[in-house]
Amino acid sequence: MSTITISSVNPARAKADAVVIGLQAGARGIKLAAGAEAIDEAYGGTLRKTLQAMGATGKPNDLVKLPSSGSVGSPLIVAVGLGAADDLETLRRAAGAAARALAGSAKVVLALPASSAAEVDAVAEGALFGAYAFRTYRSASAADHKAPVKAFELVSSAARTRSAKAALTRSQIVARSVNLVRDLVNTPPSDLRPADLADAATKAARSVKLDVQVTDDKALRRGGYGGLTAVGQGSTHGPRLVRLAYRHPQATKSIALVGKGITFDSGGLSLKPATAMEWMKSDMGGAAAVLGTLVAAARLKPTVNVTGWLAIAENMPSGSAQRPGDVITIYGGRTVEVLNTDAEGRLVLADALVRAAEEDPDVIVDVATLTGAQLVALGARVSGIMANDDELRDQIFALSTEVGESMWPMPLPDDLRKSLDSPVADLANIGNRYGGMLTAGLFLKEFVPKGTPWAHLDIAGPSYNEGDPYGYTPKGGTGTAVRTLLRLVEDVATTR
Ligand code: BES
Ligand code: MN
Ligand code: ZN
Repeated sequence: MSTITISSVNPARAKADAVVIGLQAGARGIKLAAGAEAIDEAYGGTLRKTLQAMGATGKPNDLVKLPSSGSVGSPLIVAVGLGAADDLETLRRAAGAAARALAGSAKVVLALPASSAAEVDAVAEGALFGAYAFRTYRSASAADHKAPVKAFELVSSAARTRSAKAALTRSQIVARSVNLVRDLVNTPPSDLRPADLADAATKAARSVKLDVQVTDDKALRRGGYGGLTAVGQGSTHGPRLVRLAYRHPQATKSIALVGKGITFDSGGLSLKPATAMEWMKSDMGGAAAVLGTLVAAARLKPTVNVTGWLAIAENMPSGSAQRPGDVITIYGGRTVEVLNTDAEGRLVLADALVRAAEEDPDVIVDVATLTGAQLVALGARVSGIMANDDELRDQIFALSTEVGESMWPMPLPDDLRKSLDSPVADLANIGNRYGGMLTAGLFLKEFVPKGTPWAHLDIAGPSYNEGDPYGYTPKGGTGTAVRTLLRLVEDVATTR
């Protein structure tokens, strides 16, 4: 990952490949943002006029590169739009866009608004998220794929304060986790089979001294984990259940995080069409987000106990695959008629939710690339939040907004529940075609004890960016949900 340091040097004197400043869109044209003063002075006080003449708008997503012609220590000045309002997520995205535009640079100075800890956090996160590239599978000759910026220097008038230093450290920890999730999601499914994901989780967890337990396919079958077993049985690479635990000696509260970890979702015998399979290596984004959150928690050490459950399987069609019509028994004894083998996420999650609840956590949250219906309802960039507890749903919504992850509260309407009735088993695994995100949520709700606050995040669209990069979001794996889950963990530590 890129390095980042914080200092209160004069950004006009710093020697680097580029210096990044902010531009605001004011009522009467553009305005230089805080942090750009010294650059403007060195430039002869004409920076605003020059940028205006070049057509800079100061609006979000606007980015203009300007040669400094020897006026400052860097040959290049990059002006990024911050819009009209003081909005941290716009600042985070602008820093990310600058980091992407400057790929290939050794050193970049960030002279963006950074006088508060919150601004330092936004600038640092944006830069570190934006400076991401997945190059593992590029040959050395692929020279047009530039390396991310090597080093950032973040200029802040608050550089010496404890809160600014803490914000910088936190943003580095968060970025490491987010970029770990992206790497796992981007890894081709042939190289990330269930055992590989379990191994990657074990390795990451051990490096931060998390407790890890992996249950393999044989033990899952013997232990009655019918969901993981049934979904995994069509693959030559058996399923895994990973339990990660972070413990704080003074903790009085506990939270369980459960992630869907389908390393590849072909649909099984209810086979997906070819185009729908193109990105199905990303169907483990929920499990990866849970891993990333626990790794970050282990480094930040909040006063709370956190357990992570990764429900991992590969959903493949074969002579040993489960069939539509099969009845399986979820961990704990409830039976499910599998009418569509492509609705597999809820089956592996059901096992993991029941198992997680056995330990009686105060809160349970699952995160999953669960339904195409999420994309239909909310689009590719907004995750759905469903819950059996309005307060928890609203809390997650508020925290997601605070950290800059787009999520929206969604209902779990009782009247849809009956569409999950089966003529032969306790439940069917598919229900009403309309409101598919909600029926999937209602299915999961059945496996959570009534008295335990539980929320379900459907990140099907947001976990993977099929389109062009934007802000700090690259193409491919995005690492979504880590920031919200981490804030929730911290919030549970201090409030619930
Ligand atoms: N992994 C998919 C959901 C998905 C779709 C994630 C598109 C990301 C992008 C999930 O396992 C699935 O196939 N869901 C089915 C459920 C249906 C059969 C009830 C779906 O949404 O079509
Ligand atoms: Mn599926
Ligand atoms: Zn799936």
